[in-house]
Amino acid sequence: MVGRFRAVGYFLALCLSLTAQSCQKSAAPVAESYPLEIPLGLDANAQNIPIDNPLTAAKVELGRQLFFDKRLSADGTVACVTCHNPFLGFTDGQSVAIGIEQREGMRNSPTVINRLFGRSQFWDGRAGSLEEQVLGPLENTVEMANTLEEVVATVAADPHYQRSFRKAFDAEITITTVAKAIASFERTLVSGNSLYDQFKGGNATALSESAQRGLALFESNRLNCTACHSGHNLTNEAFRNNGAGMDSADPDSGRFKVTGRQADFGAFKVPTLRDIPRTAPYMHDGSLSTLPEVVDFYDRGGIANEYQSGEIRKLNLTVQEKRDLVAFLQSLNGRNTWRSF
Ligand code: HEC
Ligand code: HEC
Repeated sequence: MVGRFRAVGYFLALCLSLTAQSCQKSAAPVAESYPLEIPLGLDANAQNIPIDNPLTAAKVELGRQLFFDKRLSADGTVACVTCHNPFLGFTDGQSVAIGIEQREGMRNSPTVINRLFGRSQFWDGRAGSLEEQVLGPLENTVEMANTLEEVVATVAADPHYQRSFRKAFDAEITITTVAKAIASFERTLVSGNSLYDQFKGGNATALSESAQRGLALFESNRLNCTACHSGHNLTNEAFRNNGAGMDSADPDSGRFKVTGRQADFGAFKVPTLRDIPRTAPYMHDGSLSTLPEVVDFYDRGGIANEYQSGEIRKLNLTVQEKRDLVAFLQSLNGRNTWRSF
């Protein structure tokens, strides 16, 4: 009963945000719309849901099954969840991703939480939407190494999926509907209501004194972390070079590959810091294993290079300040991430 009342509430809320006329028109699909709850600390107005792929319960459930299905890979051994494991904050705990036949990738598997709020996907932002992003790993030869035709054929041969796709889309199984279902599931993976959010929300004892000092440092002009890790999802979604990986003999050029601009060399998308204690190792190359290592890295001014963003500089933190900053980062685990499992 409670669930039903809640669904009615969402229906009303949605109607209020639409004109009366469009609300009436869309009455049927809205009835089964997915009641996405946005936890404390996250901005519900910042959601990015494409107009041609509204969230519905049927799509989310189908997307969840596809996300966990190893048959989507060439040899049936790797699923999305292999590298985006909910028990590891939707990452894999490896420096760089390992795909089928233990093939080693180039980059660290990022978390897929809060991608609902993202404007671009991948470390270099080369995909404009979650729907577009899905196609990458399916075909990537060091990840799932499949062909899109083979993915569709595998899914279409399963009577269970045939029924679920009819229910979710009332349309044929194509790579477009597969991508729409997986993207819908990913949009439900929201993480908020961390101790940090509770503190910001008015619970003065949610953070230890050390974590409170760390938060003040994080937000200070001196450290300048919020020049990039800003806003409700602790990222401005921009591309910046903090120096990670730049000491390698052949550094990953990052955003440069997408824009061709020299200034973007070695720049990567500013990642969210939510769930950060769960998602080690860190940076696009997984080069830093722990949060104290990350803090030491920033204390040194990252790795200096000619393309490094101007906001990164030597910090000269004391031992206590480093501890406080780590204590703050430790407070960023969300309480809602597990809802879908
Ligand atoms: C072999 C490991 C592996 C598999 C399997 C895999 N991913 Fe990923 N995923 C990665 C890596 C590595 C990246 C970053 C790649 C890059 O930026 O170039 C990534 C990036 C992403 C991103 C972008 C996140 C962001 O912050 O921009 C999303 C979303 C995502 N994957 C979803 C999926 C989905 C959906 C599937 C299944 C269809 C999948 N992944 C399968 C390793 C994997
Ligand atoms: C100029 C923008 C900028 C500033 C300022 C900045 N960061 Fe970052 N941060 C980034 C970028 C970009 C990355 C990813 C870099 C990469 O992988 O090459 C990152 C990565 C991280 C990561 C690892 C995230 C992950 O999932 O791997 C942590 C933790 C982090 N930053 C914390 C901080 C803290 C704490 C401060 C302040 C001392 C700070 N950052 C200042 C841009 C910035």
